Amino acid sequence: MIGSVFVNTSRRQVQFQKRFFASKIGRAGKNIPPQIQEMMERKLYNVTNHPISILSNIIRKYFETEKITDIEIPGEKFICESSFNSLVNTKKCFDDVLVPKDHVSRQPSDTYYFDDDTVLRPHTSAHQIEMIRSNHNAFLVLGDVYRRDTVDKTHYPAFHQMEGVRIFNYDQINAKDYDHAKKIAENDLKQTLLGLSSHVFGNIETRWMPENFPFTDPSLELEVFYNEDWMEILGCGVIHDQVMRNAGRDPEKEVGWAFGLGLDRWAMSLFQIPDIRLFWSKDERFLGQFKEGEITTFEPYSKFPACFKDITFWIGEDYDENGFMELIRDNSQDMVESVECIDTFTHPKTQKTSKCYRINYRHMDRNLTNEEVDEWQFKLRERVESELELELR
Ligand code: DAH
Repeated sequence: MIGSVFVNTSRRQVQFQKRFFASKIGRAGKNIPPQIQEMMERKLYNVTNHPISILSNIIRKYFETEKITDIEIPGEKFICESSFNSLVNTKKCFDDVLVPKDHVSRQPSDTYYFDDDTVLRPHTSAHQIEMIRSNHNAFLVLGDVYRRDTVDKTHYPAFHQMEGVRIFNYDQINAKDYDHAKKIAENDLKQTLLGLSSHVFGNIETRWMPENFPFTDPSLELEVFYNEDWMEILGCGVIHDQVMRNAGRDPEKEVGWAFGLGLDRWAMSLFQIPDIRLFWSKDERFLGQFKEGEITTFEPYSKFPACFKDITFWIGEDYDENGFMELIRDNSQDMVESVECIDTFTHPKTQKTSKCYRINYRHMDRNLTNEEVDEWQFKLRERVESELELELR
């Protein structure tokens, strides 16, 4: 979630990302890595019988057909907008929703920049303002979102979010003043989302945790006890009064709530899908298993063997781990299942630090040959030196 801890990114990392993307311009025509561009075109939530589409339709159905809370507004109908371009300007994505200037999500180490003012949206909250501004008072926004991240079974640079917003005017809810209105909105938010969680997960234990999002006040997270563990399923809150103003509304007259949830994480638990890369598989053994309207358990098909390769290099203080992960992805696409740092060593005399990473090459849909894995690893070693300017050990 976007509320992660802030880590400073140095100028050198920014330069690295610019140089890294610049090297792709020839091939892709844009400064976003080619494999990301390919994902931008997939729109998995529109693919019938795909778990992402099945789940998003189940959620939409809850909002579109159920009487969701005690507050009923004649004529109100939730609409779902899923056709926004995933490239958005930084004003909509960050400024309008009050993301601080120095927040980590603005850093090129975490977010893909198309150019200085345009990013590949890291959250669907980027569209809140324009929806509210066009007078929508009950809506969902569904879309693919992108973040630079580590490589493992639950993290992928592309995933899917659904945003929800409901706005009331004070008369509709008999609010006396701003504080009263906020309280009513918060209660309605909780009722809505508890209804959603039981609609999707069934009758399970839930709990609210305090959170901190720039665009809401108060901010909360909802957790459910599912598959024998607590799982955070969404972030939400009462829309910040300044966000209301930025969207052209008067917080002395109107109040609203908002939430955002990650569909991939929900789908992984509900369908018991063990690896996030599977959503992007084109293999019939995956795609053929699911049916619209039904949450069924994924039947794993035989896994292809893993192939482990280690790489060790010296790092400096401004080392950008996400940049290294990105390089690995670019180098061998989805052939990498996970990357794990297995050793960190600081030289007692020079105080220089080195890191050793174990890369697990394994494809979801086919066997990899030794030759191709060796070739990727060789290329990776070269690129760590030439593009990241790190010294191999
Ligand atoms: N945008 C947040 C994220 O990506 C999720 C979120 C939290 C959306 C709270 C909201 C909200 O609309 O009110 O982590």
